[in-house]
Amino acid sequence: MRRPVLAGNWKMHKTASDAAAFAASLPEDVRSERQVDAIIAPPATALDHLSRCFEGNAIRLAAQNMHWEAKGAFTGEISADMLKDLGVRYVIIGHSERREMFGETDASVNLKTKAAIAAGLIPIVCVGETLAQREAGQADAIVVRQTNLALQGVKPKEPAGLIIAYEPVWAIGTGKVCAADEADRIMGVIRDEVARSQGPAGADGTRILYGGSVKPDNMADLMRYPNIDGGLVGGASLDPDSFAALVRLSRPTPAK
Ligand code: PGA
Repeated sequence: MRRPVLAGNWKMHKTASDAAAFAASLPEDVRSERQVDAIIAPPATALDHLSRCFEGNAIRLAAQNMHWEAKGAFTGEISADMLKDLGVRYVIIGHSERREMFGETDASVNLKTKAAIAAGLIPIVCVGETLAQREAGQADAIVVRQTNLALQGVKPKEPAGLIIAYEPVWAIGTGKVCAADEADRIMGVIRDEVARSQGPAGADGTRILYGGSVKPDNMADLMRYPNIDGGLVGGASLDPDSFAALVRLSRPTPAK
């Protein structure tokens, strides 16, 4: 059985001081979570501080982006080793906001995914179609293509060392969650594509998350589906009680 993942993507929200206040008010059962990989991806400026706040407990940190080179003349960029040195374990790669606004391409997503794995980080690779693509009947083809290109030459040491997030662009920050059965269906399509590069066992062990307007009141429904291994959550991860509720709702249930 795949271990669930609940990752909070804070985007460009919270100073390091705000992050420390969040950490201080996170309930104890979630700080010592045993059944779910509970992850927070704060802005890079809060990673060091949060890493100290969460020292010795179960919450893990993700970066929201990284560069694929190990070092060099890349003003404004951060390498995988720099993240690891702060205790970061995961990195979000190819979020649609980076693809749309910051020139992220399938090629750079692939380079970053390989570099993250080589450095010992677990990439959370984001794929998902726009509303226009969905309305044109292209959703499956788009996510298959993005997944295929992201995973060219990618070889995690174990299947749990790769996470994919299906985030339909039209559902991000809009309050319009994708219907859970449709999310599960398309995530099955993604899992089939993962099998092409990682083999059936690799695909079976790869965690695939749903992202896009996940809230405590729709999380339980999403988690009932076999292909949905957790959530990548923006807005609803900013409040400690809401984040805690999402982690609790991601715990395995006997039904699944
Ligand atoms: P949202 O964002 O939960 O605020 O829709 C999700 C994401 O962009 O990862």
